[in-house]
Parts: sequence; C-alpha cells; structure tokens
Amino acid sequence: MTTKRTSIHGQWSSRWVFVLAATGSAVGLGNIWKFPYITGENGGGAFVLIYLVCIACIGIPIMMAEVMLGRLGRQSPINTMRTLAQEGKHDKRWVWLGWMGVLAGFLILSYYSVIAGWALSYVFRTASGAFMGATADGVSSIFSQFVSNPESVLAWHTIFMVMTMVVVSRGVRGGLEKAVTYLMPALFGILLILVGYAASTTGHFTEGFDFLFNSDFSKITKDSVLTAMGHAFFTLSLGMGAIMIYGSYLPQDASIAKTSIMVSLADTLVALLAGLAIFPIVFANGLEPGSGPGLIFNTLPIAFGHMEGGTFFGTLFFLLLVFAAWTSSISLIEPAVAWLVENHGYNRLNASVWTGIVTWSVGLLTVLSFNEWKFSFPFLGQNKENGFFDIVDILTANIMLPVGGLMIAIYASRFLSRKHSVEELGMGEGDAYKVWHLLVSYVTPIAVIIVLINALNIVPFLKQIF
Ligand code: PHE
Repeated sequence: MTTKRTSIHGQWSSRWVFVLAATGSAVGLGNIWKFPYITGENGGGAFVLIYLVCIACIGIPIMMAEVMLGRLGRQSPINTMRTLAQEGKHDKRWVWLGWMGVLAGFLILSYYSVIAGWALSYVFRTASGAFMGATADGVSSIFSQFVSNPESVLAWHTIFMVMTMVVVSRGVRGGLEKAVTYLMPALFGILLILVGYAASTTGHFTEGFDFLFNSDFSKITKDSVLTAMGHAFFTLSLGMGAIMIYGSYLPQDASIAKTSIMVSLADTLVALLAGLAIFPIVFANGLEPGSGPGLIFNTLPIAFGHMEGGTFFGTLFFLLLVFAAWTSSISLIEPAVAWLVENHGYNRLNASVWTGIVTWSVGLLTVLSFNEWKFSFPFLGQNKENGFFDIVDILTANIMLPVGGLMIAIYASRFLSRKHSVEELGMGEGDAYKVWHLLVSYVTPIAVIIVLINALNIVPFLKQIF
C-alpha cells in the first residue's frame, strides 16, 4: 500500500469541490424534512444540543475514517474494502461492508426518490397558486389525494430518478462535480432568502429561534438521545459508502480532518437554518411544530397559502428541497455505478441506467405503500399498518447505517495499521490524532452499539431472535 493509487473514475478538481460534493450528499431531505420534524417532536433546544454533541463526537470522527478508507482504496466501496483487507491480510469478509453499503444505497434511494418526487410536484403545485387561501383541510386533502394516486406519484418518482441518472452517467467531473458546483450555491442562496423572509415577515422569528436553542432538558428522554444519534448518521450520509466513494476522488494533498469538519459544519448549519426558516412560519400561523413527517407537505403549505409572497417563497422552498435531495441521491447511487464500471466493464451510461432501473423498481413498492398496498408486519411491533416505506426507513436508518459506521470505525482504528492512518490523515501523531483514535476506537463503537440495542428494542421480532 505504499504506492499511491489513482481512481479510474477520476478525481475532484480540488478539495473545495470535495467539500461541496460531500456537503451536497449530506444536505438532503434529512436536513430540511426530517430534522425540523424530529426536533419538533422532541421538544426543541435540548434535542438540538444532543444532536450537535453526536455530530462532534461520533459523526466527524467516522466521517474522517470513511473518507480515509476511500482515499486509501480509491475504488468503489466494495473493491476498496476487498483491496484493503487483502493487502492488510485481514478477513475477506470485510468486503461485505461494501456490499451492505450498496444495498443500503438502493433501499434509501428507492424511497428517497419518491419523497423527492413529491417535492418536485409541490414546486409546480405551489407555483400554480394551488395553496392560495387554502384551509388546513384543503391542504390536507390535496396531499392525501396526491399520495393516494399511484400514477402521478410514479410519474414524479420517474422524473426524479431520470434526473439522478443523467448526472451520474456523466461521470465524476462532467456530472457530479458540475451538478454540485451549480446546485450547492443555489441551495445556500435560497436558504438564506427563506431565513430572511421568515425573519422579516413573520414577526415570530424569536419564537422560532428560542424553540431551536432554548434547552429544556426535562423534555429529553432516552429515546430522544438515541434519535439524535441515529440522525447524525443519516444526515452526514455515513455508514453506506457514499462518503467513502467521494473520499476516493479526493486529491492526495487535501486534509481529511479539515474537509470532514467543514462538511459536518456546513450540514449542521443548513439543518439549523432550515429550522430557522420553518419554525417562525409554523408559529406565525398557529401550526403545530410536533406534527410529524407531514410538517413540510401538510402543514407548511397552509402557511404559504396565507402569507404575503407565499406563492413565490413557497415555490422556492420546494425547489430547495428538490436541489438538496438531488445532490444526495447522486451519492446514493455512485457506489453501485462505480462498481459496475470496475467489475463488469460497463460504461458510465449503462451502469447508471441499470442501477437507476433497479432502484426505480424498488421504489414502486414505496409508491404503492402510500396508497393501495398497506399491510401489517408483525415484527414492527406496533399494531398499526406499515407500508414498505416505514420498514425500509427503520431498516436503513436504524440498523444498516449504524452497523456500517460501526464497522468503518472498527476497521479504521483496529485493523488498518497505525502507520497508514497516521500517514493518510496527515495530522501527525500528536493530540489531534490521539483524540480521533480514542473517539473511533472506543467512544463511537460504544455509542453506536447503544443505538443498535435501541433499534432492536423497537423491533421486538429481532429481539426474540437474539
Ligand atoms: N444525508 C442525506 C440526507 O440528510 C441522506 C443520505 C444518507 C445520503 C446516506 C447519502 C447516504 O438527506
């Protein structure tokens, strides 16, 4: 492993492009759709504080480890893990880490693309003035009519999937890099405009601000600590190879620690700004912050329908959601595409089309799970009906990503030789390295195991097995 490899897929033009691309992967539906509603459900400030601690102590060290493995291997996560294990004379089964990542990517993207399709349709719906003056019931019925109509949801899911395939098929420089250099500045611009709008027009900005930053620890339960920790994985795109493959395109002279910290900070900033844009609007209109996953599609349009400039700013809001989802979805599919190119001689176009078709087909199950096809899965514990979407969400976010992150932390700290990690991280062997090593070898694994135990708790079926 002394000779440095190069990736056959190319390399980012600079470390700044890596920061943009990895931030693009990290900033997604998790920041704008999930973070506000789980913060709402978990009482606000104290939850935010715990989430920030998780990002710092678990997220950043694992991101460094994942980028490091990627840059050492310079291939798709499957082949990176195979090569590193071979060269280090470790168990061949480390390659499973790469396979699990590819599988998790398919599963996440299959539902992610459906939700992004909703957002895409809401861009046009809002722009057409459909929510102007609409009542809460009116907005709700627009939403439920939409999701219960498989044809239209399918059409939007297909459009979003094609958008993803187009970018990925053009390769690292011509596709991914170009997309993030246009979309990320646009995303930041729109977000700032929306925060400005919320601050200047709602008259409830401080209420929103207090909700996010005033810590009331009495509202914190064991579950909210675990939710915060699980979300740290999802929001930073960790544990499934997306960040690993982006790391495999990182120039050799770039600092892994600095870039990982920048990406994590940018991701956190976007989540907080999204909260600052959304909660003042929610409070100004007397809406419920803890209203759950429907907050964005079911609740926010009521507000936009009654606010000055609501049509314009509402349209911008859904556009923001689409851009954020788009730059994440390309990273969900990239590991599989790169693997097809490496191992099966596909060109990028064919590899993207085939991966897209498979993911699109799995997505059909999510499309149906919101309408015709509801069923009860005994292993989800509750007696409520669950769709495929709920199952995939639990399986990926609560189980697969934490397991992936755990394995990455273990491999990077206990299998990879110290010489390699010191050399690749490039921050010497001083205190910074020691802190990182302590975090990935002890703090992170212990914390992640707690998350997993929690996941097994809410899945009584698995509990019976163990
Ligand atoms: N980080 C993305 C979000 O917050 C989701 C994601 C997870 C993307 C895993 C890639 C890999 O929406």
